[in-house]
Amino acid sequence: MNQLNIRFGREEDLEAIREIHNYFVRETSVTFEMEEASMENRRIWFEQFDETGIHQLLVAEQDDCLAGYSASLRFHERPAYAPSVMTSVYLHPDQTGKGIGRELYRALLESLEKTGKVHRAYGLVVIPNPASERLHKKLGFREAGLLEEAGFKLGRYHSVRIYERLMG
Ligand SMILES: CC(C)(COP(=O)(O)OP(=O)(O)OC[C@H]1O[C@@H](n2cnc3c(N)ncnc32)[C@H](O)[C@@H]1OP(=O)(O)O)[C@@H](O)C(=O)NCCC(=O)NCCS
Repeated sequence: MNQLNIRFGREEDLEAIREIHNYFVRETSVTFEMEEASMENRRIWFEQFDETGIHQLLVAEQDDCLAGYSASLRFHERPAYAPSVMTSVYLHPDQTGKGIGRELYRALLESLEKTGKVHRAYGLVVIPNPASERLHKKLGFREAGLLEEAGFKLGRYHSVRIYERLMG
């Protein structure tokens, strides 16, 4: 693999992040987002991140191109869920299957552990998604449940497996 650089996401990454995000919104059910995001939407989305907080954005650069991003978001709006985060990772479709997802997601989890403020991380995987399920298990998540046919996108229902990781 050529030079892989993992770092915190910056505002100037948002256009490349938006392109990856919109591809998965438009073409797949791996995300339950249904509308492609504008740049304004991504700028507002970016405001939630803080390099020393529990909501972080990391990106992977391969040969100076943005190969993917990984983020921890608020898990649920109700305040008692505050020590839990929802984590996810998305690579550019040309960059999958080369180990980048593993490096990037691992870096996010390590960075979150360093804060000492996250109690649980949850990954919600729309199934089937063998690469994502394998990745979650590899990085210490366990299966915590199945939401059967919880979402409807691209003309059919989709089930979601909950992956849970103890942190800190
Ligand atoms: C899911 C995703 C982040 C995984 O990253 P990746 O770089 O492609 O995966 P890696 O090369 O790091 O491989 C991770 C593990 O999954 C396995 N794997 C990769 N692709 C696979 C596939 N198509 N089928 C089965 N297993 C697969 C790898 O062998 C590896 O397991 P191992 O360490 O035991 O060998 C990436 O494929 C992606 O962005 N997919 C589209 C978006 C998405 O689904 N995001 C997750 C939303 S929950």
